[in-house]
Amino acid sequence: SKGNHRHYMLKEIYEQPIVVAQTLRSYLQRMEEQVTLPIPDFDLSAIKRVTIVACGTSFYAGMVAKYWFEQFARVPVDLDVASEFRYRAPVMEEGGLMIVISQSGETADTLAALRHARSEGQKIAAVVNVPTSSMAREADLLLPTHAGPEIGVASTKAFTCQLAVLAALAANLAKAKGRLSEAEEKALVKHLAEAPAALNGALAYDEAIQAMAHVVAAARDVLYLGRGTDYPLALEGALKLKEISYIHAEGYAAGEMKHGPIALIDDAVPVIVIAPSGPLFEKTVSNMQEVQARGGKVILISDYDGIEAAGEGTVATITMPKVHPLIAPLVYAVPVQLLAYHVAVAKGTDVDQPRNLAKSVTVE
Ligand code: F6R
Repeated sequence: SKGNHRHYMLKEIYEQPIVVAQTLRSYLQRMEEQVTLPIPDFDLSAIKRVTIVACGTSFYAGMVAKYWFEQFARVPVDLDVASEFRYRAPVMEEGGLMIVISQSGETADTLAALRHARSEGQKIAAVVNVPTSSMAREADLLLPTHAGPEIGVASTKAFTCQLAVLAALAANLAKAKGRLSEAEEKALVKHLAEAPAALNGALAYDEAIQAMAHVVAAARDVLYLGRGTDYPLALEGALKLKEISYIHAEGYAAGEMKHGPIALIDDAVPVIVIAPSGPLFEKTVSNMQEVQARGGKVILISDYDGIEAAGEGTVATITMPKVHPLIAPLVYAVPVQLLAYHVAVAKGTDVDQPRNLAKSVTVE
């Protein structure tokens, strides 16, 4: 049931601290300060290359994971939406691990990609939320998310749980490759374990987000900008908004603005900038200022330090708790989801059953 929430989507957004904690429990050994996998004897040390394939929101989780696998494990990562992966001629060499990511475990294109990769001799890992699904059954390494049933058509809690599993997998791969010292492993465990509390901190901004939703609800077009792991979040933010509010939205890598999309900017286009303070902050803020100089209405999502440093000129800010960069994608997913939710409610659309969309896409 929806409990005392007005929509399943809102209930599921609010469940995230609990379900992420639940998911992390099967991947982190808190006492030993170690990361592990549910199938401990699966050998990751021989993996030479990773191919990540998924659709929609699950694809954006995979896009975040690409940054992590490369950064921590130094393993090259290939990333594709399943419907494209199937119809190009991907080169899959020995020692490759295919990772499929799917809430339902039944998405037709992703399942077909899994089967194709298997026929090419790849090992298969599946990050899935439905443990009885086809992908779960056909994988060599089943990596469950413990999000519980997701009813709202727009994916929310499955996404943050996928990120939690993928971060743990990246750490395990790094460890298997001898690229993670004991001290680094301890630190990663500590940061990941902080995610549930940080998600709670992010939820505390719900009312403030609701209060600013009208700025976005009045728009015809909205842009989302991010850099690094915030780039996939920008894409996810735009997807969530268009799915449930039917407002046209696009996500861009912040540095790509000047290569075209900046031509769209005027005072009718809200631009949501996702920029936690950290090594990429300055660069993103300078892209933000380019938008402001052209009259764009910037809504900045950052932490207190970031918002202070960015100065004047935004139409609104959303303050997130200050978190380690590893868990920032999980935490910043919350304001992005809440903004889409409140805009949709303000517009009066059917949040849980958006038009033309199905929860599980089992046809191509
Ligand atoms: C977006 C959304 C879809 C799904 C996509 C993949 O809110 O729900 O984009 O993420 O259809 O579905 P799964 O994860 O079940 O493979």
